[in-house]
Amino acid sequence: MSILEIRDLHATVETPEGTKEILKGVDLTIKAGETHAIMGPNGSGKSTLAYAIAGHPKYEITSGSVTLDGQDVLEMSVDERARAGIFLAMQYPVEVPGVSVSNFLRTAKTAVSGEAPALRTWVKDVRSAMDELKMDPVFAERNVNEGFSGGEKKRHEILQMELLKPSIAILDETDSGLDVDALRVVSEGVNRAKERTDLGIMLITHYTRILNYIKPDFVHVFVNGKVAEQGGPELAERLEAEGYERFLEGAK
Ligand SMILES: Nc1ncnc2c1ncn2[C@@H]1O[C@H](COP(=O)(O)OP(=O)(O)O)[C@@H](O)[C@H]1O
Ligand SMILES: [Mg+2]
Repeated sequence: MSILEIRDLHATVETPEGTKEILKGVDLTIKAGETHAIMGPNGSGKSTLAYAIAGHPKYEITSGSVTLDGQDVLEMSVDERARAGIFLAMQYPVEVPGVSVSNFLRTAKTAVSGEAPALRTWVKDVRSAMDELKMDPVFAERNVNEGFSGGEKKRHEILQMELLKPSIAILDETDSGLDVDALRVVSEGVNRAKERTDLGIMLITHYTRILNYIKPDFVHVFVNGKVAEQGGPELAERLEAEGYERFLEGAK
């Protein structure tokens, strides 16, 4: 049973105007099997939170802690975090020219599990995961994210998640840029992973739309670098009706 614990997390980034504090005391606990929706306006620091947990070098953690099953995540390198079971689906996945999806996935799997997956089962696993995500097999021979549409990028992120089998998945705006059909396919992938592996999910989103497909157990309103309010799924409905204004007033 995995548990990710974030305590009073503060993080800064260097900007041309100087050091800027973006995370201002984040508290959040995610256990195996739980889905937490993190909802907040643009620029509130949601992606920064995702990057800070995954270990992006641009963000400096100035105080607070992040632990996974009691282990200090902030002490780990980026690949150690991945091996420990943390997965990040980025809001804007990067292109990796010259590296095919197929090679990328196998390399990532080998790195995360510490040994190369047995070829026969691996090829089968990749095929069936792609099939479930309604991805054309030729996709595997394309270069990672090169010329991918928004929907293809997001499917590829979920494909990685399904094959790497993390214990905690951070999904940063996995719903952005998806049409209704793609949204359903991607959401079903997330739900499958949750059923199969008791995944704990941090689902970062701007809109409530994806919550029709992926049911959150908890909803956290993220404003101005920290959690401003938390509740159950009913909180998402309230946000849908009222927007973030009420919280923005309070954050000033
Ligand atoms: N690398 C960076 N350099 C400068 N400013 C940044 C950087 N990353 C984030 N910020 C700023 O931090 C704030 C939060 O950004 P972000 O975490 O992307 O928010 P969200 O994902 O909630 O939209 C924004 O004001 C953004 O401009
Ligand atoms: Mg973002």
